[in-house]
Amino acid sequence: MPETARRIVLASRPVGEPKPSDFRLEEFPVPQPGPGQMLLKTKWLSLDPYMRGRMSDAPSYAKPVGIDEVMEAGTVSAVTASNNDKYQVGDIVLSRAGWQTHALSNGADLRKLDPKLAPVQTALGVLGMPGMTAYSGLLEIGKPQAGETVVVSAASGAVGSIVGQIAKIKGARTVGVAGGPDKCKYVKDQLGFDECVDHRASDLAEKLKAACPKGIDVYFENVSGPVWDAVFPLLNPFARIPVCGLIAQYSATDAPDMKYKTSQLFRAILTKRLTIRGFIVSDFWGRFDDFIREMPQWIKEGRIKYREDIVDGLENAPETFMGLLKGKNFGKQLVRVSE
Ligand SMILES: NC(=O)c1ccc[n+]([C@@H]2O[C@H](COP(=O)([O-])OP(=O)(O)OC[C@H]3O[C@@H](n4cnc5c(N)ncnc54)[C@H](OP(=O)(O)O)[C@@H]3O)[C@@H](O)[C@H]2O)c1
Repeated sequence: MPETARRIVLASRPVGEPKPSDFRLEEFPVPQPGPGQMLLKTKWLSLDPYMRGRMSDAPSYAKPVGIDEVMEAGTVSAVTASNNDKYQVGDIVLSRAGWQTHALSNGADLRKLDPKLAPVQTALGVLGMPGMTAYSGLLEIGKPQAGETVVVSAASGAVGSIVGQIAKIKGARTVGVAGGPDKCKYVKDQLGFDECVDHRASDLAEKLKAACPKGIDVYFENVSGPVWDAVFPLLNPFARIPVCGLIAQYSATDAPDMKYKTSQLFRAILTKRLTIRGFIVSDFWGRFDDFIREMPQWIKEGRIKYREDIVDGLENAPETFMGLLKGKNFGKQLVRVSE
């Protein structure tokens, strides 16, 4: 029986939270590589919050996925046939093959991975885009100093977990905000944060204040919404705020009802001389060589730990992605598509 390929396409643009009918699983013949091309078979698929943005056609920094097009994603893939001199059958590559089992590539934008150096799927997590996001956003914008207080939201996740641990390496007091007691316990006991506050429990503002007795010098924003409302009054003069993500807003149909309005925000920016800077990880690709030198060393020394949340089967990607947007993942969300 010839092998059949499968893919998940965007069936409709979600209004609010994505739902199963916004995705469609399709079968198609395994494509044959032409001159200069190779066939990639997906081993690992990365699920990331930015994909919610690609499902929408609202103006953004990147082009949306079209209706009936394959959902976009980073993958770790194996070369299974090659007409390209630079790649051989058996090579493992970091690719952007999307939510599908097979894809053709001409070799552009691929990175060869060495399975002897690290588990290959880490190229989608701690040694890839999320790790680089944490590293560059914190060091380029947050600039944590020894003794300062660094707060990070979505603290048990792919980006937040690394932000807090790098802040510790730089000598800062590190406070996480995460959803639920299990995630908070992990953030403190396993990742070594000084404190972690549960944003799903009551009195977030009071608990965050108690966890930050000297105020907040760096807030790494992954979330927005009520977490930002709790952080805002605690910001110290000259605080730095790398704005990395706003996941609480991604499926919102109305402007979120945030407590602090533009006038209060601007007043605080002026009087406290705040630095608030949005960034996309690609702004800092120039630091990739530093990142890929330092991060594996920190992992080897036990100073950076990471956790993966692995689901098997491409068909489970939509449900898993919908769960990620609601905090069901615990660590970097991956789908194992094939062995
Ligand atoms: N700027 C960039 O270039 C860039 C690159 C990568 C990622 N990002 C952003 O970084 C953030 C984290 O991404 P990630 O890949 O590390 O994801 P992640 O943290 O592994 O997973 C997302 C987490 O967000 C939290 N969350 C979801 N809804 C929330 C809400 N309403 N309030 C508070 N927390 C909520 C959940 O954690 P809890 O259960 O703890 O609430 C969930 O587990 C996202 O906003 C993402 O868009 C930006």
